Amino acid sequence: MATYKELTDKRLLACAAFVSGGGIVCDVGTDHAYLPCYLVKNGICKRAVAADVNPSPLRAAKENILKAGLEESIETVLSDGLDGLSPKGVTDVIIAGMGGELIADILGRAKAFYSGARFILQPMTKPERLRGWLWDNGFEIAAETACKEDIYYTVMFAKYTGKNTCCTVAQCYIGALKGNTDDDKGYILKQAERLRKKGEGMKKSDPSSTEAQEYLRLADVLEEYIKQG
Ligand SMILES: C[S@@+](CC[C@H](N)C(=O)[O-])C[C@H]1O[C@@H](n2cnc3c(N)ncnc32)[C@H](O)[C@@H]1O
Repeated sequence: MATYKELTDKRLLACAAFVSGGGIVCDVGTDHAYLPCYLVKNGICKRAVAADVNPSPLRAAKENILKAGLEESIETVLSDGLDGLSPKGVTDVIIAGMGGELIADILGRAKAFYSGARFILQPMTKPERLRGWLWDNGFEIAAETACKEDIYYTVMFAKYTGKNTCCTVAQCYIGALKGNTDDDKGYILKQAERLRKKGEGMKKSDPSSTEAQEYLRLADVLEEYIKQG
């Protein structure tokens, strides 16, 4: 079984790179607790909370924490999102490996954490929904980075400012990605490919579909964003 020493997962390392480490790091949906073990063992933070809604992953988390000898620094908590956790001293919240809509739902119920913590978010699906939710609910996406392993992933670093941001649908697909690395470019082009496929599929069954036109237009906008550098 992998331990903190073997953390080579680019996706989790990209999450770790956004951690401020100023105080307690809460890893929501921790599963195996690889990330909090890595963060504490490498001195990126002193204390962490490994939380999960399901008892079985939490057992795996506890085993890994014990194996790493980190039981004094990492607390495990059975919790739905951040519901069962105290915001006191929490500077970083990580929510990785879940759907974009579930992440938005967890954030929507976590207002007590807004003023003290930064949020590191790694949606597996519907990233555009999560970005739209963040901008509609007073969050700024301060930075975002894409990485490729078996597939492309994106990791966002968001902060609550209380100010909503107007955005276009295309911006919801691009987020704060600058498109200046191969992985950023690859990720955005993959989104464009997805949209084009969807649009073309819809157009086949209904050539006058306005929804299909919109998907194809979005694919064009994303490809143009990459072309313009
Ligand atoms: C695919 S794993 C991701 C593990 C790890 N965060 C990662 O990115 O590799 C998703 C984990 O989230 C947990 N989870 C799902 N919904 C949750 C919720 N509402 N609150 C806390 N944990 C949740 C699941 O039990 C599971 O362990």
